Amino acid sequence: MIEPDLFGSELSGISAKTVKRLEELRDQLRAHSYAYYVLDQPQISDAEYDSLFQELQEIEGKYPEAITPDSPTQRVGGKPLEKFASVRHAVPMLSIRTETDTQASGAHNFDARVRRELGVDESAGPVEYVAEPKFDGLAMSLRYEHGVLVQAATRGDGEVGEDVTQNVRTIGQIPLRLPMGVPPILEVRGEVYMRRDDFETLNEQQRARGQKSFVNPRNAAAGAVRQLDPAIAAQRPLSFFAYGLGELPPAEAGGPEFGTHHQMLQTLKIWGFPVSALVAIAQGATELVAYYDSIGQQRDELPFDIDGVVYKVNSLALQRRMGFVTREPRWAVAHKFPAQEQLTTVLGIDVQVGRTGKLTPVAKLAPVFVGGVTVTNATLHNEDEARRKDVRVGDTVIVRRAGDVIPEVVSVLLDKRPPGATEFTMPRQCPVCGSTAVREEGEVDYRCSGGLFCSAQRKQAILHFAQRRAVEVEGLGEKLVDQLVDGKVIHTLADLYRLGLSSLASLERMADKSAQNILQALEKSKQTTLPRFLFGLGIRHVGEATAKELARHFGSLDAIMDASLEQLLQVSDVGPTVAQSLRTFFDQPHNREVVDQLRACGVTWQEGPPAPVTPKPLTGRTFVLTGTLPTLSRDEAKELIEVAGGKVAGSVSKKTSFLVAGAEAGSKLDKAQELGVAVLDEAGLKELLDGRA
Ligand code: IVH
Repeated sequence: MIEPDLFGSELSGISAKTVKRLEELRDQLRAHSYAYYVLDQPQISDAEYDSLFQELQEIEGKYPEAITPDSPTQRVGGKPLEKFASVRHAVPMLSIRTETDTQASGAHNFDARVRRELGVDESAGPVEYVAEPKFDGLAMSLRYEHGVLVQAATRGDGEVGEDVTQNVRTIGQIPLRLPMGVPPILEVRGEVYMRRDDFETLNEQQRARGQKSFVNPRNAAAGAVRQLDPAIAAQRPLSFFAYGLGELPPAEAGGPEFGTHHQMLQTLKIWGFPVSALVAIAQGATELVAYYDSIGQQRDELPFDIDGVVYKVNSLALQRRMGFVTREPRWAVAHKFPAQEQLTTVLGIDVQVGRTGKLTPVAKLAPVFVGGVTVTNATLHNEDEARRKDVRVGDTVIVRRAGDVIPEVVSVLLDKRPPGATEFTMPRQCPVCGSTAVREEGEVDYRCSGGLFCSAQRKQAILHFAQRRAVEVEGLGEKLVDQLVDGKVIHTLADLYRLGLSSLASLERMADKSAQNILQALEKSKQTTLPRFLFGLGIRHVGEATAKELARHFGSLDAIMDASLEQLLQVSDVGPTVAQSLRTFFDQPHNREVVDQLRACGVTWQEGPPAPVTPKPLTGRTFVLTGTLPTLSRDEAKELIEVAGGKVAGSVSKKTSFLVAGAEAGSKLDKAQELGVAVLDEAGLKELLDGRA
């Protein structure tokens, strides 16, 4: 074994001063990487760290014989392996019994068993436990000899695992060397996992490189640990939590004596291992239940995946007294949370039509209990998403539902795909009305071109018009609208106001009294305001705020309907997209007809005089965009400028008022400087937009 304190004297040609500097550098780098990776409190800048690291590399380059395996430069270094060597664990790596009852009773069951086995009854007070998250990664055993990491092994079958030392050395949170005074042999056990944000970044990179993405952080972590090329493993960001010990020398041979599991974890923390801040001491079943509930509530917000919690008897003496059954300790149990991912099969792929005609593919699933509810549908969002995931009818898929997030198909198990399953294609016709479905340039969605001719859009349009934020027809809900439209009782919005008691009361499950109520609500809704009415028409991109602004600016509906694009663009908050959408809507004769009919049915509001036109902050100014802005995309910046009345041009000329330049701006910047055109950065643009400049 290398004795780091002695090696200097064994080396020739290296001065004592250099040996001292080597040790200094290594100690400093270790301390800084502990502060960075484990404490998450960096004490120096990346550049300062890099400069220390480079100095160390230079010295080691000159004196290769002075390199030690625990040097911070040695995290990545090994050659790709053919296969992993087997490692027999000095102390077997046990598994834990799982309490599958996801109710609080799971904790009571465990506490009752512990009491029975220890023969302690209620009068003896509660048993003390340590409660920990059950990290969803893979178990790892880290072996240190004389404070230096010599081996990292997977669990394998519990007796024999795989030697993955090269890969584990690349994990910044795992110390390569421990402080003085640790036992001469020390095996630390814990979980290697991947943080969710690291997982997302990794998958983005994988996709960008055209490589396959990982299903979940656990698979990504397992793949990284079992990667034969340590250089690749080093690029996969892994983390670690310690939760136990393996081999330790007996007390008489320098082994530490811990009284409790919690003390042992505290000590591991002092030795430089990450121990989760969520670890807690719990007195008896009541506190275990509270812990289970509390961690369950935090689950979705944690930066890493957990699949339950683990309860352990705290006293090591009691642990010894309880012992083991087969491969499982009697003093610990894993209490699972409801799974957030499940396998199910795709029964079909439906295409739903939204209010604005948007077609959404939806996977119909064999009912599956996941994330605490039964899921039968999962949105596939749009054609590109559906293609990317390549979900096909008959496929076995992983469905995920976390928290209140809508369920989604995570991935397809390709080896379970039935023969002959065909790729999904978006229909070129609206599945409801048969009109052509169109996908505009630069858009991700297909839309039914049928407008209010399409019954699906009609239903959504009626519901939108009747909602509380629009004209508000109380009691007019989805079921009723389905009946009215499917039964061909109403065809247009105006037909709502032509409903009579007899036609309403003849609908299924509609009592006279309810029909009366609906008629009253319809009557009441006729007295409305221009913004509510305008919003209720459901014009694309015209939300409540825009409707208010339009009403204030023009004063009357006729003025809005007849306004030219230029006039619409004078309204604050209206840019080309909104203006074009208004024009398209009111250019369609059938939309004007609906408006006329509604007015004829008695829908009214107060109109006022138009507001005096005030120029927008950027009216008359021309902008050119170049380079990458820190937060805004090109399209977003363009939209903001146009909404504020400015124009965006493609090239710099004498007419350009401002060049907005981001990172890596090229020739346009040179040209602007040549012509003396003012140059702004993103912050400068935002000041202009806010009227601060
Ligand atoms: S203790 C003797 N504590 O769950 C008990 N295990 O079968 C040994 N796990 O794959 C395990 N979080 O990797 C323990 N806080 C935790 C854990 C944990 C996750 C994993 C472990 C093993 C499985 C237990």
